[in-house]
Amino acid sequence: MSVLFKNGLVVTSSGSRISDVLVEGGKIKCVGTGLADRADEVVDATGKYLLPGAIDTHTHLDMPFMGTTSADDWKSGSIAAACGGTTTILDFSLQGKGETLRDAVERQKGKADGKTVVDYSIHPGVTDARPDVIDEVKKAVNEYGTPSFKIFLFYPFRVDDYAMIRLLEETRKHGGLVQVHAETFDVITRMDELNAAEGRLTPFDHARAHTVLAEEAAIERTISAVEFTGSRIYIVHLSSGQGLARIEKARHRGLRVYAETCPQYLTLTEDRYREANWGGAKYVMSPPLRPQSSCDKLWLGLRDGSVQTVGTDHCPFNFTGQKDMNGKDDYRKIPNGAPGIETMLMLMHSEGVVKGRISLEQLVEVTSTGSARMFGLANKGSITAGKDADIVVFDPKRKFTITKDRLHQNVDYTPWEGFEMTGMPELVYSRGKRVAEWSDNSMKFVGKVGEGRFVKREPIPFI
Ligand code: URP
Ligand code: ZN
Ligand code: ZN
Repeated sequence: MSVLFKNGLVVTSSGSRISDVLVEGGKIKCVGTGLADRADEVVDATGKYLLPGAIDTHTHLDMPFMGTTSADDWKSGSIAAACGGTTTILDFSLQGKGETLRDAVERQKGKADGKTVVDYSIHPGVTDARPDVIDEVKKAVNEYGTPSFKIFLFYPFRVDDYAMIRLLEETRKHGGLVQVHAETFDVITRMDELNAAEGRLTPFDHARAHTVLAEEAAIERTISAVEFTGSRIYIVHLSSGQGLARIEKARHRGLRVYAETCPQYLTLTEDRYREANWGGAKYVMSPPLRPQSSCDKLWLGLRDGSVQTVGTDHCPFNFTGQKDMNGKDDYRKIPNGAPGIETMLMLMHSEGVVKGRISLEQLVEVTSTGSARMFGLANKGSITAGKDADIVVFDPKRKFTITKDRLHQNVDYTPWEGFEMTGMPELVYSRGKRVAEWSDNSMKFVGKVGEGRFVKREPIPFI
């Protein structure tokens, strides 16, 4: 099966050019001008962008968490991803006590295989850093194809600094990358106690408890650990301008401290926690939404390269039946997380590129090329000969109003209800096969369930 895309604006992180793209056998065969119309399918991309499929660096599909399970499984979650222009999903699998990293990876693969419609890989989440697990890092990097490892400094399954240091040492030796949820457990626990003593247990008080200082303090701990080990670290879901300032200072000292942020921290503010009828619970996530000044600083970070990637932290729980299960009177019992797997590319284009906050090339860098580089996805992340043909034909002018009913996520709300988008995917290809298309005023899934594959990632060079 061959596909020829004609006359599209091929966007790479270093420049954009009107070109044709020929795809054969699921791979990009060549990019050039005036390619002959000899292909099974010819797509006229005049006036459209040709973007590499987005890579979502951070999702939680079918994940047991806080007494329930995230609402999207691999079928609904990956269909939503495809409809939003995301063609690779990097999902987490948390190691249980006594489990190996292989156990964690295989468990999540078992849920994904046969269901996912786009390619995926797994970040093992290390919660039990026993000596044999530290030893297993080498195999995870070189054999399992999973060279990135998440640790938490918050939640009951957090690790201590000793474990962080041992993982940093081991990943440095083998080409791995530690990802860290940077919030200090003890600060938040004390804030929770103070809130509870005063009867402050609304969703807004969740944000108060997860003070920005808890993020800053945890980031400083990780920076010290990087300095001590000579390793590198990646801060997941960075939420605050203050946290970013600390990362930038460390980077100016030559330390390898990388950061990911998410559309919610760029486009929504803490005012959401005041939403009527307990609506603030929709935004109970950790870290929480921050003031507008943080959104502005994070956009600048994407623009100047101090924030390298965008992921969604898609962790959906229904407002009715999950968010309200135990937490109506106590924010500490509200499952943490929000949906976003389908809306990343449209939001980053409409709120980022159209509003002049980032360039089109930076959009491609932070949603695809930089993510592939960061996570060892050798065959993904750009429209270049030899790479997988994960391609989004993107209409930069198309208008779309985000509303839960026009999305495919299996959850009863979207944080961006009513947001007006300029620019939408029109056609989405995963390894040369069409998986989603615009029709009848929204995106439709047209692929086959189970055609997505586990991607064995490469060790990540130290640069
Ligand atoms: O609130 C969040 N972020 N839920 C998902 C789990 C995590 O910490 O990434
Ligand atoms: Zn986290
Ligand atoms: Zn997460």
